[in-house]
Amino acid sequence: MLSVAQRAQQLQDRIESVLAAALPSQDRMPERLHAAQRYSVLGGGKRLRPLLVYATGECLAVPLANLDAPAAAVELIHAYSLVHDDLPAMDDDDLRRGRPTTHRAFDEATAILAGDALQVLAFELLAADSPQAAAPAARLKMIQILTEASGTSGMAGGQALDLAAVGRTLTLAELETMHRLKTGALIRASVLLPATCAPQLSGAILENLDGYARDVGLAFQIQDDILDVEGEVTRLGKQTGADAARAKPTYPSLIGLEQAKVLARELKDRALNRLAALPGDTGFLAWLASYVVDRQV
Ligand code: IPE
Ligand code: IPE
Ligand code: MG
Ligand code: MG
Ligand code: MG
Repeated sequence: MLSVAQRAQQLQDRIESVLAAALPSQDRMPERLHAAQRYSVLGGGKRLRPLLVYATGECLAVPLANLDAPAAAVELIHAYSLVHDDLPAMDDDDLRRGRPTTHRAFDEATAILAGDALQVLAFELLAADSPQAAAPAARLKMIQILTEASGTSGMAGGQALDLAAVGRTLTLAELETMHRLKTGALIRASVLLPATCAPQLSGAILENLDGYARDVGLAFQIQDDILDVEGEVTRLGKQTGADAARAKPTYPSLIGLEQAKVLARELKDRALNRLAALPGDTGFLAWLASYVVDRQV
């Protein structure tokens, strides 16, 4: 019997292969664009969102083969969001996942296009028919969930709020909304996508899963803010102190480091309580909720 950590490693390897197979070959033209797409996605990252897809699917007894497309799709959207987030017009960062950011390794125009192409590839994977694919109605619903989580009421909207907030002091409610949109929405989608593939899910189960996902999503960005203050560059693989340097409102800047940690732990506990009300094996989901808050990476 594998430990949860071993299971997570196994699924990280699985998603790496799924993504490597889904991304266009860099031998095909336009080679430079394809190379930039592969560079942006492969060989790094915690793969938290795919792990949430697999863990939720496991809890709801969804066949593993149905989960590869949503797991890859949400990671592709995430990877694209990082490529664009790092651009000079946004956070202007040089280091990501321990390597030069995509616009540094290639050039800005290629990074913009790589992001564009990764975004549509995500929806291509969700739409695709194959023997492993979920039923057509579930695929359509998944496309709807991921568009909402990626667009103006999700990640892109949150990134706009983030840019508009530079140099301003937000209220706690405004900061929470920004974090829930820019980061929470894709994490929430990572739980809702596999739930779509589960037959006959009751409203109560869905509500508890959704509550779990919302709390984990907010806790994740709070921990990201915390690590920007006290994380180690070599472990994180990205620059620290960047939020303060760019006058970005964050949980540590608004309520202080200690209170931010308290809040992240409260959200984790609330997420764990939600799991208690679910049927099935919730061990993996519980492990992920703790990982999100305890991580130093
Ligand atoms: C970083 O996300 C950006 C945020 C949304 C906070 P991750 O911390 O999940 O980045 P990777 O995928 O592990 O590199
Ligand atoms: C990123 O938030 C959220 C995204 C949608 C990419 P951050 O700007 O804080 O993420 P990092 O710290 O650069 O990874
Ligand atoms: Mg940012
Ligand atoms: Mg950033
Ligand atoms: Mg950050």
